[in-house]
Amino acid sequence: MAKYTLLINGKQHEVEVDADTPLLWVLRDSLNLVGTKFGCGVSQCGACTVHLNGFAVRSCQLPVSAIGENKITTIEGLSENGDHPLQKAWEELDVSQCGYCQAGQIMAAAALLQRTPNPTDEQIDMAITNICRCGTQVRIRKAIHEASKSN
Ligand code: FES
Ligand code: FES
Repeated sequence: MAKYTLLINGKQHEVEVDADTPLLWVLRDSLNLVGTKFGCGVSQCGACTVHLNGFAVRSCQLPVSAIGENKITTIEGLSENGDHPLQKAWEELDVSQCGYCQAGQIMAAAALLQRTPNPTDEQIDMAITNICRCGTQVRIRKAIHEASKSN
């Protein structure tokens, strides 16, 4: 076990965990930030997506020892009141079905919009490789376009 100070959602958090503990489990088990989900554990599904310095990363394969002073943002820290343009568009278009994959989808979409404010369908498909077993991809695309109008 070792101690780590992590900058998450603008606050410093101290945790004591094994060096190879994936960030996902530090978030969920040590810090009770359970908006980030476990799906596959092998960097395939995207349910565990968070931001590392504004870039979308899959936290199930990111060891806590690799984070250092980099800035982590989780779905809990994406906006103060759940009012990020993507969160509003998601609600407006009723995107979610079971909801399990949706935090990861929104985090991936938020990272995309930071660099590509008005993405095409192709750019969305290239950037959002998260899996949705409920088949909400069409609504996800629409909601990203909707959110991009406020950029
Ligand atoms: S749980 Fe991390 S990509 Fe599936
Ligand atoms: S909404 Fe159910 S897995 Fe995506």
